[in-house]
Amino acid sequence: MRDKRILLIIGGGIAAYKALLLIRQLKGAGAAVTPVLTRAGAEFVTALSVGALVGEKVHEALFDLTSEAEMGHIELSRSADLIVVAPATADLMAKMAAGRADDLASTLLLATDTPVLVAPAMNVRMWTHPATQRNILTLQGDGVRFVGPDEGEMACGEYGPGRLAEPEAIFAAIRAALVQGPLTGRHVLVTSGPTHEPIDPVRYIANRSSGAQGTAIAAALRDLGARVTFVTGPAEVPPPEGVQVVRVQTAEQMLAAVEAALPADVAVMAAAVADWRVENAGAQKMKKVAGEVPHLSFAENPDILASVSKGGMRPRLVVGFAAETDDVLAHARAKRLRKGCDWIVANDVSPATGIMGGAENAVTLITETGEESWPRAAKEVVAQRLAARIAGALDG
Ligand code: C5P
Repeated sequence: MRDKRILLIIGGGIAAYKALLLIRQLKGAGAAVTPVLTRAGAEFVTALSVGALVGEKVHEALFDLTSEAEMGHIELSRSADLIVVAPATADLMAKMAAGRADDLASTLLLATDTPVLVAPAMNVRMWTHPATQRNILTLQGDGVRFVGPDEGEMACGEYGPGRLAEPEAIFAAIRAALVQGPLTGRHVLVTSGPTHEPIDPVRYIANRSSGAQGTAIAAALRDLGARVTFVTGPAEVPPPEGVQVVRVQTAEQMLAAVEAALPADVAVMAAAVADWRVENAGAQKMKKVAGEVPHLSFAENPDILASVSKGGMRPRLVVGFAAETDDVLAHARAKRLRKGCDWIVANDVSPATGIMGGAENAVTLITETGEESWPRAAKEVVAQRLAARIAGALDG
């Protein structure tokens, strides 16, 4: 972070106070912060408190003749390494998506190609509104990075997604966005974890995937500079910092989240997606009746990997996993062809290997041109190796 220049746009909202904590963290790490306070932001934090923390002038109005003369407002965003919008209101995101420039913040955002990180904060209904969701997709398509929002109790008394990410999480996302590596400027989609398929509102069918390998892969890709969208089922291990996390429960939700995350340069599908869902899942908790057992019937889940591989928005490189307990390589080779992905990472998940839910993995990478068996190693090491191979493939 040392000597990195961050242009921090503070939008309106009760969460604006967290921007002050973020400034302290950034300054502590040696970054230079240039603050811009929108008119709405200034209703919640004062230019005086922001200015005192950064030790620099706070920019507020669009037509500030003195600073125009000094450098011009456009220069403000061009000289930054990263623009961070925190908190970003629904309104500010709508302006960004539409390409409007009617105040200093929106003008700066439009007049630059500096990378942008957005930390949204708004009422849950505003967040879930189709207009906001549409704007997010537009901005993601433009390469804008997102951190949060978190889910939880909100200042307005409602509950749901819309809370500003915590300053630590925004800080981690800033650090990830500043990495210059072979995957800088690339968008990579990673799926991870198991899916939960409901039987009724309290029971579900799941598998033993911990999400450890997918999480390690997302972190390794992040560390090479990629913008990572991490679509995860209910995993045991927490998602990596500095990636955009999309949480889902079921395979159908995972497919929808994956489709919403495209386009991407690369997709790595490490999730252990349930093959079947319960077709006759109960809307209410099933009651135990003495002497009777429920009869569940199953429907096939969508194959996310196959649909991405064969879809119109296919990433340039699609990597699947094949977790098998017998005839691992033969099954994996057949799977690569059947699913239409470029590479398959094959691993033996027989209980004796301790791989499923364990800390280590032993894999064989199967590509169009050959097969490589990698020695058993920590899942992080396997992930770094795979990330390096991915970077190499995009280079060529
Ligand atoms: O068919 P199988 O589940 O063994 O294939 C494993 C690969 O396919 C993994 O990459 C997994 O993420 C993906 N998959 C999927 N959707 C499914 C089942 C598996 O994307 N419904």
